[in-house]
Amino acid sequence: MRRVVLAYSGGLDTSVAVRWMIEELGVEVVCLAADVGQGGDWDAVRERALAAGAVEAVVADVREEFAADYVAPALKANALYEGRYPLVSALSRPVIVKHLVAAARYHGADAVAHGCTGKGNDQVRFEVSTRALAPDLEVLAPVRSWGMTREDSILYAYRHEIPIVATKEKVYSIDDNLWGRAIECGEMEDPWRVPPPGVWSMTVATETEPRDLVIGFDEGVPVSVDGEPLGLVELIDRVNRVVGSYGWGRIDMVENRRVGIKSRETYECPAALALIMAHADLESITLERDLEREKARLESRYAELIYDGLWFSPLKEAFDAFIDESQRKVSGEVRLRLEPGNCYVNGRRSPHSLYDYGLATYDADDSFRHEDSAGFVRLWGLGLETWSARQGPGSEATGP
Ligand code: ARG
Repeated sequence: MRRVVLAYSGGLDTSVAVRWMIEELGVEVVCLAADVGQGGDWDAVRERALAAGAVEAVVADVREEFAADYVAPALKANALYEGRYPLVSALSRPVIVKHLVAAARYHGADAVAHGCTGKGNDQVRFEVSTRALAPDLEVLAPVRSWGMTREDSILYAYRHEIPIVATKEKVYSIDDNLWGRAIECGEMEDPWRVPPPGVWSMTVATETEPRDLVIGFDEGVPVSVDGEPLGLVELIDRVNRVVGSYGWGRIDMVENRRVGIKSRETYECPAALALIMAHADLESITLERDLEREKARLESRYAELIYDGLWFSPLKEAFDAFIDESQRKVSGEVRLRLEPGNCYVNGRRSPHSLYDYGLATYDADDSFRHEDSAGFVRLWGLGLETWSARQGPGSEATGP
């Protein structure tokens, strides 16, 4: 008999998937729920998996690993897909796959399964990552193959006495983790419609008094808030709560999915957006110009790789080596200013700062050699000057 390890969320689709695979494919199902910081009652999730028919249900707390090995590299790369989306869901899939594969080995399974539909990016990430890590494992996608509507699934659950939690949030497809929250579907499928206020939960403004928030970085990774050292999970959690309480950190965009669909997406990512902004700002004083520019060129490509499910790829690994090397001096502090509905940088400092006061100042402390500029500027413009005289505007003015 075949054994399958299913990436289990506790929701309707993966609960029905447990029973459907047992009935239709004659397999044993082991459920693996990964805690990537989405919160929730894990005992209840385990019980639901077992009630649906799983032979085993495991909850893996992967928050630390997710933060250190997936979120931190993305932050060092200032990774924003299409310039805006900090890759919330895209980052969690590879860590979940890593644990799915480990569980498949441990439980002697010959396949893994996920609950993604055929229209999204997540199926791509689950399957491509699994094939990269464990080409011998089969990947099953029950939700993609069963052809049931949402109503069918609910009926299926009732018929098989599978406990489900039906809430009003179910009109939306929500994916949560430490790095943020993605909300799709419902009335937002019309890109002109305003997202209903009820969809927001991390970015509801409650604070009215402006304040500062100082983020300390060590080699590109945030390590403290207002001088207090914090582990990465706790730090991100704290920044989410503080920045979110100013009602800042929402994204409303139409993005290009890997499968060719344009999709209206809304996100809440207060910590991700604030930390990327702070990190990039610290780089502005700690990275030499050419390094800063070349890195910026790679960042969008890096974000695309993650979005497109190519986390476990040699190009991604090579980019990581470059990015890690670039971060050796990215240590220091950035001060964020929070005001209702706003978050911005208003100060940065670093022991490795390349900002030279003597060179920059217009005051008496000026150490810049002004006399060097005249020759430099003349040579900088020499080629253009020659062009102008022979072929450009200068040739017409004085030509024969
Ligand atoms: N569009 C985002 C992405 O592809 C979010 C996907 C969220 N997934 C979900 N099941 N709601 O990364």
